[in-house]
Amino acid sequence: MDPVKVGLLGLGTVGGGTFNVLKRNAEEITRRAGRGIQVSHAAAREFDPASVPGIENITVSDDAFSIVEEPDVDIIVELIGGYEPARELVLKAIANGKHVVTANKALIATHGNEIFAAAQEQGVMVAFEAAVAGGIPIIKAIREGLAANRIEWLTGIINGTGNFILTEMRDKGRGFAEVLREAQELCYAEADPTFDVEGIDAAHKLCILASIAFGIPLQFDKVYTEGISHITRDDVGYAEEFGYRIKHLGFTRKTDKGIELRVHPTLIPERRLIANVDGVMNAVLVKADAVGPTLYYGAGAGAEPTASAVVADIIDVVRTLTADPGNRVPHLAFQPHALSDVPILGMDDVETAYYLRMQASDKPGVLAEVTSILGNADISIEAILQKEPASGATEASIILLTHVVLEGQMNAAMRQIEALDSIHGELVRIRLEHLDCD
Ligand code: HSE
Repeated sequence: MDPVKVGLLGLGTVGGGTFNVLKRNAEEITRRAGRGIQVSHAAAREFDPASVPGIENITVSDDAFSIVEEPDVDIIVELIGGYEPARELVLKAIANGKHVVTANKALIATHGNEIFAAAQEQGVMVAFEAAVAGGIPIIKAIREGLAANRIEWLTGIINGTGNFILTEMRDKGRGFAEVLREAQELCYAEADPTFDVEGIDAAHKLCILASIAFGIPLQFDKVYTEGISHITRDDVGYAEEFGYRIKHLGFTRKTDKGIELRVHPTLIPERRLIANVDGVMNAVLVKADAVGPTLYYGAGAGAEPTASAVVADIIDVVRTLTADPGNRVPHLAFQPHALSDVPILGMDDVETAYYLRMQASDKPGVLAEVTSILGNADISIEAILQKEPASGATEASIILLTHVVLEGQMNAAMRQIEALDSIHGELVRIRLEHLDCD
């Protein structure tokens, strides 16, 4: 049988890695797929041929649109990233009856509903394992491995750059900008690094995970997104004194009222396995009713880890090329007509615990004023810490952990505390999740 022909759009870090893995492991890949897989065309604007040995045997064009029109190409692998022209290229490929593999989380999170509808109509596949947590096969695990379960919640460290920054801040006291630069040199950071540090990259990935976990359409605009740029060394240190680590988490949970969909720094108990996922590594913890908790760990970015997911998707597509489209695994895990319209909850309706830090006048009665506001709002305190003013200063730091409360209730109490004469400036608030798996 002739090999399946692949058109590779993009020969950057992941494109080069994909080409290398396909070439190096060609024999085993053919044994797995049942057919050879050959990159017949590639498109790249700027690239160094020496960085991808073997590419000289292929015509590399600078016109990606010519490749999606190429009649010989069966599968388009989109590794350009970003919204446009990736969206247009993918839709053109689908219209031309080609299957698509993509690592593009921004594209899937924001245009996935449109893309999957077009693919459904054409009877082609759009595979996107590499879009979430790089080399960790989390899409396959949730969509297929956990298909028997009702998923209750999931959470993940799904941005390696952010995790690397928080880890270095905690372990070595290094500065934010310096660590970010290193992540960029390691090719982990997004082209626009604010996507990493302001949580947008993690929000793209969480949006995809929530859709396949709960069978809901992709709703990127409803993800609450907060980054790590305001996290200080002091907060990292105080969290440790309480026995917690600060991690940048994506968190989604199905409740009776709707679905929580949020990305933000979070205190988690240091004894949890996921609290010990450090550096650029990613992990996703899924709590499901039948299996209980399962944890998936691995490299969330990088040339070959991401290529591992891209090539696995290509093999999946090749294996089911001749299958009836109706019998393939649905894009969002649930049959398209069975997606549900459960609402996404606004942050006021989210329930979580909190870490609060405030600067207070060092005089009698201040703590009593703060705790009485919390008590009147029915907010229960789990732990409290007071740090005396540094010599010559007059303000003490008060740090509190609370039990779980509605965020709307917490917001109202915070405004009251900020209005006290003895409290200076805004409160620092970091959400806290115990991640109980009982
Ligand atoms: N910028 C991303 C990260 C790359 O740091 O995790 C993988 O999506």
